[in-house]
Amino acid sequence: MSDVITAAAALLEAGALVAFPTETVYGLGADAENPLAVARIYQAKGRPSDHPVIVHVAPGADLAHWCDELPLEATQLVAAFWPGPLTLIVKRAAHIPDAVSGGQDTVGLRCPSHPVAIALLAAFKGGKGGVAAPSANKFGNVSPTTAQHVRDEFQAELDSGLLGAVLDGGQSEVGIESTIVDLSRLATHGPVLLRPGHISGEQIAAVIGQLPALPDAAAPRASGTLDSHYAPHTPVAMQHGDLLGETLNQLLNAGRRVALIHYSDLPPASASVRLEANPASYAHALYASLRTMDQVGAELILVEAPPTGPAWLGVNDRLRRAAFGSTGILQQFLSI
Ligand code: TXA
Ligand code: MG
Repeated sequence: MSDVITAAAALLEAGALVAFPTETVYGLGADAENPLAVARIYQAKGRPSDHPVIVHVAPGADLAHWCDELPLEATQLVAAFWPGPLTLIVKRAAHIPDAVSGGQDTVGLRCPSHPVAIALLAAFKGGKGGVAAPSANKFGNVSPTTAQHVRDEFQAELDSGLLGAVLDGGQSEVGIESTIVDLSRLATHGPVLLRPGHISGEQIAAVIGQLPALPDAAAPRASGTLDSHYAPHTPVAMQHGDLLGETLNQLLNAGRRVALIHYSDLPPASASVRLEANPASYAHALYASLRTMDQVGAELILVEAPPTGPAWLGVNDRLRRAAFGSTGILQQFLSI
């Protein structure tokens, strides 16, 4: 095992924060069984402390340690998709700190597939621990998909020592956060898809024989399900490709500085990123593109609305939240 991993595991065991790569996005990790360590996550992120965090476990971890009940559906999904970008919400074991569960009676469990994450989880407490980790960004910001994004978000915390280390594992492959399925209320609600991601509801149905429902009002709270989340600082507006060319021309003619994220043939904007019209490669590049376009000095990030359909659910969900709060911005700019 590398010295870097051994040192990072020791930091976690001592109660410090360590940022690490996963295949979805980078996580800001702390020992899930140390409430003081978990409190540092909330402090660093500026996140409300009643929001639960996912517990990351090593491959083959004893899940009975973390949950009160492990339904058959959980065992089936673990066998099919772990290590991988799927988080399962189950009834929690009593010893899990409230700071992890957000005071709820459930816990989110995930075994990531990134080799650096696996090495860290295997080294931490000899593979028997759990690392509580939200995405390694300030609350509400775009999630990080590179180590540099994490350092950009937490330079002050690195300098002060609140963040002990940032492990570099290159660019996250999936690029958007894990799919979250709630299995904690099966008897009354069936499986519920709390957050769409790379693993689709249809793939889950193929394993457990039931399509997860969309969340209802009583579903457990998830901060990634707030209306406004994953948002750059520059306002974001989405429009379909057939209207977009004309809108872009009008904005540029009105002297507006517009950054464009698109996948069809469109005229150049003040700055542009062209993504592939494929849901996996689009998701892979989405957050890095939002961050880049957030830094070009544009007044607006115009996004060509992606296709709809099950494979695009995760991407559309994140973009809708990134654009929330910018409602009316296009009208405002175009009416001047
Ligand atoms: O891909 C991911 O899931 C990444 C990487 C780092 O693993 N993590 C991530 O964490 O996206 P975070 O905290 O940014 O989002 C986790 C989501 C939040 O919306 C949180 O509210 C929800 O999971 N969550 C965690 N535990 C939960 C629980 N017990 N019940 C309901 N939602 C839960
Ligand atoms: Mg997050």
